[in-house]
Amino acid sequence: MAFDANRPDLTLGVIGTGAMGRGIVQVAAAGGMRVMMTDSRAGAAQEAREFVEKMILRAAEKGSMTKDDAAAAVNRVSVVGGPADMKPCHIVVEAIVENLEAKQQLFAQLEDTVSPDCILATNTSSLSVTTIASKLKTPQRFAGLHFFNPVPLMRLVEVIEGLRTEDWVTEALMVVGKRMTREPVRLKDAPGFLVNQVGRGFTLEASHLVYEGISNFADVDRVMRDVGGFRMGPFELMELTGLDVTHPASELIYHQFFQEPRYRPNLIMRSRYEAGVLGRKSKRGFYDYDAEMKAIVPPETPAPKTRPEAVWVSAAEPRGQATLLELLKKLGTAVESGAKPSGKALILVTPVGEDATTCAVEQGLDPRRTVAVDTLFPLAKRRTVMGTPLTDPSYRDAAHGLLAADGVPVTVCRDSPGFIAQRIVAMIVNIGCSIAQSRTAEPADIDKAVTLGLNYPNGPFKFGDVLGADRVYRVLSSMYRIYGDPRYRPTIWMTRRARLGVSLLTPEP
Ligand code: NAI
Repeated sequence: MAFDANRPDLTLGVIGTGAMGRGIVQVAAAGGMRVMMTDSRAGAAQEAREFVEKMILRAAEKGSMTKDDAAAAVNRVSVVGGPADMKPCHIVVEAIVENLEAKQQLFAQLEDTVSPDCILATNTSSLSVTTIASKLKTPQRFAGLHFFNPVPLMRLVEVIEGLRTEDWVTEALMVVGKRMTREPVRLKDAPGFLVNQVGRGFTLEASHLVYEGISNFADVDRVMRDVGGFRMGPFELMELTGLDVTHPASELIYHQFFQEPRYRPNLIMRSRYEAGVLGRKSKRGFYDYDAEMKAIVPPETPAPKTRPEAVWVSAAEPRGQATLLELLKKLGTAVESGAKPSGKALILVTPVGEDATTCAVEQGLDPRRTVAVDTLFPLAKRRTVMGTPLTDPSYRDAAHGLLAADGVPVTVCRDSPGFIAQRIVAMIVNIGCSIAQSRTAEPADIDKAVTLGLNYPNGPFKFGDVLGADRVYRVLSSMYRIYGDPRYRPTIWMTRRARLGVSLLTPEP
């Protein structure tokens, strides 16, 4: 099909002019397209048009476009009575209510209205593109065009191929996305598409470890910000989005993937969702709020003044040992040099994916004196430590005091395979690998989409390269071994690349 997505008179129809639809109208008009918009609620499209006009004129006042360009963009937008008036459109994007029947009904009507080579697209956030298209006479011209909220600020757009979508449709939508000054990423239809799938790794694994009593909301948020480099912790993020959005999306993705354990939600989220404890919007969530709606964050445990009498560091993980010895040297701490710890020494281990208990048992160490330190992530802003269930509190406090001696905060969590950051990041990387393995998207596109759509410091593959594919693989393998839960099984994509000693980005011919 010869479809010219670059034609200057390209006309886009937008149906549903709520939060998303109006944003799509704005970027399309600013990108030089003519836009016809409509909404089933009387007056809604006109309201949205006025809103778009205000936004475009404000952009001109701020200098991001000329006044003439802004006026021309506003003139390209028109309100029409309904889908039956969309005949002149080359592409129609739907952003109506998130309901399968409503969307299928709308597209059935549109299909009989527009020309045979008009592209039909949905902005659905959670329904299957293939399923929406299944009722069409011409599913080959149907695709997903998934924007993020707020559209003018979020540059990512996922261009989603349904099972029967033809290439010319996806290619045209990629061009249209670029004309809208977006960063389009191409992928195949899958539950949660790309970004919402990867996002489960962050929020669900965080909830799992709080559910298990390993840590609390505030500490997990602190660790993921300071250690993982995330702009916001997983619970802070869910506070903003609201569990009324996050939890149903998680349940849906889990069931759409036939109960894949990687996406399994847990009771931390569901019970809050059912109790209406949703986050900021319900004035109570993982955090409480003061009168000014500022989150009340429980304070950190202050660093104890105590220090260990002697310190010994296990050599079982040579890289971790070297990192920790370097830090202890900076802190001015003498470390025992024997192959075994002396009778009173604090025993420090540096596991990759193991818990402190496994280290103590398998290395034949005294579990009452064993404390594990996470050395997989940078130690400059925060350190994470954990003991075995038998670790004497005086030894745990001595380790805490010692590692905080230079003023860097230390988070103490309960025994956990993978501490906090190791396991959350490993899950993100593993889900990225499963998206690549299923050929849903290319590794480089997965990283691009995740950094743009979720604002993570790295995409899954970059994280894998920074931490080392072999070490992320070991985190997951150890977790899988210790928990016996297939949730943690490494994907075959990761396993092969880790065993071959190559980057996770390595494609297959
Ligand atoms: P919204 O509720 O702000 O707007 C929906 C609009 O569609 C309303 O103005 C409503 O009057 C209109 N509408 C409903 N049924 C209609 C019909 N049959 N024909 C014409 N107009 C109709 O919803 P929002 O947030 O803009 O979401 C729209 C779509 O975009 C949904 O499919 C949603 O899942 C998806 N989406 C939402 C995101 C978000 O963060 N809000 C992000 C990405 C996608």
